[in-house]
Order: sequence, then structure tokens, then C-alpha cells
Amino acid sequence: MSRVEPVVSVLLDPARAATSLVDDVRRGLGAHPRRLPPKWLYDDEGSRLFDEITRLPEYYPTRTERAILTAYADDIVGACDATTVVELGSGTSEKTRLLLDAFARSGRLQRFVPVDVSEGTLREAATALADRYPGLAVEAVVGDFTLHLGRLPRRGRRLIAFLGSTIGNLYLEERRAFLGALGDSLDSGEWLLLGVDLVKDADRLVAAYDDAAGVTEEFVRNAVRVLNRELDADFDADGFSYAPLWDARMERMDLRLRAEMPQRVRIPGADLELDLHVGEELRIEISTKFRLDRIGAELDDAGLAVARTWTDPDDDFAIILARRR
Ligand code: SAH
Ligand code: AVI
Repeated sequence: MSRVEPVVSVLLDPARAATSLVDDVRRGLGAHPRRLPPKWLYDDEGSRLFDEITRLPEYYPTRTERAILTAYADDIVGACDATTVVELGSGTSEKTRLLLDAFARSGRLQRFVPVDVSEGTLREAATALADRYPGLAVEAVVGDFTLHLGRLPRRGRRLIAFLGSTIGNLYLEERRAFLGALGDSLDSGEWLLLGVDLVKDADRLVAAYDDAAGVTEEFVRNAVRVLNRELDADFDADGFSYAPLWDARMERMDLRLRAEMPQRVRIPGADLELDLHVGEELRIEISTKFRLDRIGAELDDAGLAVARTWTDPDDDFAIILARRR
């Protein structure tokens, strides 16, 4: 079979992305605690740091999800009748290859649609995937999964893969809206494959987000560097300490930066000025951990019926297959 050149469509053009960043920054930095939406963490440097995180000894989610896919990818493919895989927040699509390999063995897969806001990472991944899977149509989309679900390609019977527990980075109200839009965007009989990190011992969770090598801290700190570059802001990135905590009530990691000295921050690109007092915190990212019964109920509310669930032997992570009713 001959190689098919990948196609890349851009739904998130730079001008719109800039407007959306300004809106997010105005809204988020006006909230209490002040917060930033995590999609802005993934510029080229953020994507590189995340890739490094996935290989840290303390960061178990990536290797655990990979182990589940290694053991069960053929079962997953056998349990659904998809011919198109759409992957949201696809990044490098590194683990997804296990799924694509199993689809390739089944001879059923026609199309792969990786979707990500990080254009550079997505373009590289699309080229590598086209090389690896001759005959597969790779139709990459530079887009935002909180905005563009309704505009994704509709051809074939789709399996939407949302791996890595990236769903945990959405706030509760965002998750509800996202699942509703996801349910609406699927036709009856189409599929969702969702990776979720499960609630576990707080010590392991804190270690996973406060690694000894300090890579996660750099990843989180990169958020203010993105604002300095994109909006001409003058945050002193090194004037913050990293403050990750386990929020037991919300069952989520809460990754914050704490001002170690008073800072007057100018953000000309968003026409904003902030006075941060000592000890004031910016919430950069949350990472919610899940319980199977509750996420099953949330999926059900969105019209998605759980068909199968695969976990690792320690129940650290789960991959859920659900079908649109
Ligand atoms: N799925 C991969 C990567 C997870 S990192 C894995 O499991 O390892 C999260 C990815 O989601 C990053 O590549 C980031 O650029 C992307 N992302 C974050 N918010 C997004 C959004 N709103 N829309 C599209 N992609 C997003
Ligand atoms: C992409 N996402 C699921 C990661 C997580 O674990 O919440 C992002 C991350 N942030 C810090 N470490 C990893």
C-alpha cells in the first residue's frame, strides 16, 4: 500500500486563538482564585515538557494507560465497529499507535483524525503516522475540543478517543458542557473511548504532580511565560513558588503558583493590570481523578452508554468504551 499524504485542517486560526486567549485571561484572572485555562500550557515548550513528564518515574498515568492498551487493544477494536478514529488532545499520539496497530490488524480502519490545539506537535505526529500506516487517511485538525466538536469530519463510523485522562483537566462545568457537546456530535451507534485516571492514595497523586526532577513545576510555570510572550505581559515567572495540592473534597489535584513577593503585573495584550500580594495564588491547572460509577453516570447523562471498561491490575487507571444511544 502506498503512503497517503496527511491533510491538516486549521479550525483554530492564529487570530481567533489570540482573541480566545485574551477572553480566557480576562475571565480567569478576574476569578477567585485567579486561574488560567490549561490549553494555553501547550505551546512548543509546554508540549515538550509534557512529553518529559510522561517518562518521569512518579508519573504513572501514561505508562499505566499504555499497559492497558498493550493488553487490550485487540479487545477494544473487537468490541466496537468503528472505521474512523478521531483522537481529541492527541499530542504525539504515541500510545494511540497501540490502538491503531490493532485496528490495522483488523483491516477495518480507514481514517485517523488527530485533533489538537498544539499545531507543531500535531503536524509532526500526522507526518509520522502517515509514514507508519500506508493506506490510512490521516486528516489532522488544529482545533479546540471545547469549541469544535461539531465541526469534526463525520465520515465513517467514528470512535472518538480521548485518552490520557485529559478530561480531568476540565473544570466540572466545562466537563458537563464538553460531554453534552460530545454526545450531540456523535450519531447513534458511534463510540467514545475515554481514558480516566482513578482516585487513589493522596501521596502517590502528589508525587506524580510534584516530581523530584521539577519537570511538572517547569510545565506549570511555563503558563506565565506563555502570557509574557503572547500578551506582552511582565510576570516574573521565578517570583512564584510551585504549590500543588490534593483537594480531597473535589477529588482533584490543584496545581498553583504562589507569589513569593508582591508583583504588579501588566498584561498589555489583554489590557489588564494585576496587583498580586505575597502568598496570592494562580491556579494553573486541575487534574480531576475519577470513580467509575460517577463518570459512568456522567456519560449516561450525555447519552453515552458504557459498554466495556478495562483497568490495570491495581485499578490505577481505566479505559471506558461507551456507545451513543
Ligand atoms: N493524549 C496524549 C496527550 C495528552 S496532553 C496523551 O494521552 O499522552 C494533552 C493534550 O491535549 C496536549 O497535546 C494539548 O495540546 C491538548 N489540548 C489541551 N487542551 C485542548 C483543547 N481545548 N483542544 C484541543 N487540544 C487540547
Ligand atoms: C494532560 N493531562 C491529563 C495531564 C494530567 O495529568 O493532568 C497534564 C499534567 N499536568 C501536570 N502533569 C501532567
